[in-house]
Amino acid sequence: MFNYNSLFTERLQQLKNNGAYRYFLEVNKSAQHFPNFYYVNEEKFQRSAVNWCSNDYLGMSTHEEVIAKLGFITHRSGTGSGGTRNISGTTNHHKELEITLADWHKKEAALLFNGAYQANVTTLQTLGRNIPGLVFISDERNHASIIEGMRGCKNEKKIFRHNDVKHLEELLYAIPADKPKIIVFESVYSMSGTIAPVKTIAELSKKYNALTYVDEVHGVGLYGATGAGVLEQEGQEQAIDIVNGTLSKAIGVFGGYIAASATMVDFIRSFGSGFIFTTSLPPATCAAANKSIRIIQQNLELRKSFFENVRLLRSALIENEIEFNPNDSHITIIPVTGATHCRKVADQLLQQQGIYLQPINAPTVPVGEECLRVIITAKHLPKHINHLAYSLKKILHARPAIYEKAYI
Ligand SMILES: Cc1ncc(COP(=O)(O)O)c(C=O)c1O
Repeated sequence: MFNYNSLFTERLQQLKNNGAYRYFLEVNKSAQHFPNFYYVNEEKFQRSAVNWCSNDYLGMSTHEEVIAKLGFITHRSGTGSGGTRNISGTTNHHKELEITLADWHKKEAALLFNGAYQANVTTLQTLGRNIPGLVFISDERNHASIIEGMRGCKNEKKIFRHNDVKHLEELLYAIPADKPKIIVFESVYSMSGTIAPVKTIAELSKKYNALTYVDEVHGVGLYGATGAGVLEQEGQEQAIDIVNGTLSKAIGVFGGYIAASATMVDFIRSFGSGFIFTTSLPPATCAAANKSIRIIQQNLELRKSFFENVRLLRSALIENEIEFNPNDSHITIIPVTGATHCRKVADQLLQQQGIYLQPINAPTVPVGEECLRVIITAKHLPKHINHLAYSLKKILHARPAIYEKAYI
């Protein structure tokens, strides 16, 4: 008889053996003290630490007005929506948020999902299943949700080398001109912090009559004159067909969305299973996200101080001789090769220095590219930055124990 349990145990043991098993730290947030949080250590003592891997980039999840909005609308409308968008789950708050998002991205319409993951999977799958012969042309570094979306349909897929527009053009050139095609990429790559050459990709899409789909999950709220993202910064909003974004990172609330032409949005709304057959976002979540976006749009200072913090962080790392991968974004990658070593460094940072940095291992990044992904927020202070740089130096530059012994 098939032994299900032994299969699960064996596969889990493999993960543990190669250091890729995921342990969840209980990061007990404090709205008042963010980025500090509380956790209980292995000896069952409560400890405080500084969060260096939250995607709450601007600290909007702790913003008084956003919290107040969530509470107020929850009291008025209740906790959940109680239905799918089609069956009693659409409120004025859903509609208002979709209008805000469409305007922000300079698109005709937007569509809410329960996360950007779901928005990616549903939109790509729906396009693949409904456009006969559609070919996906995808950057090799695309997020798991994009890959999952493309896997969910049987369309042909072509993968171009990361941000390599020459390779992209070779692939486009090789596809018959009358075949429908879509270029799928991210604006800010979550695990490398690299930024896509959006303008060139848009130009190529026009030349070869391809649709374009961009995941702006790590761009929205941060880049551009009103924080709409990299497309706004580069003046490319009109040039890209479909934008995907999240309400859960810089906006600090919860949910995801796409923004596109009215026809495209109506198409996904009408044919996207992952949109149609799920309970809609709670009304208060929509209202709070809308409030947060309004604050971000009007608060250039907040975004400026965020990027000033990125600059301060990188100067402190350079001063302390901590190597990191150069890029033009806010995501700072410190390579720490080897899954087990990377986890050990992260454990030491937490236990000895009160610094929480999640080790990033395969399959999130390719084997050999294990790293600490440092995320600074607008709420980190110079004292936090200095302490991080000092602690990284102390742990990463520590002499291996074998040398210490040789000296005794
Ligand atoms: C690039 C990228 N796309 C999509 C997602 C999914 O977004 P969400 O958390 O809103 O589902 C993430 C991470 O969470 C991401 O990093």
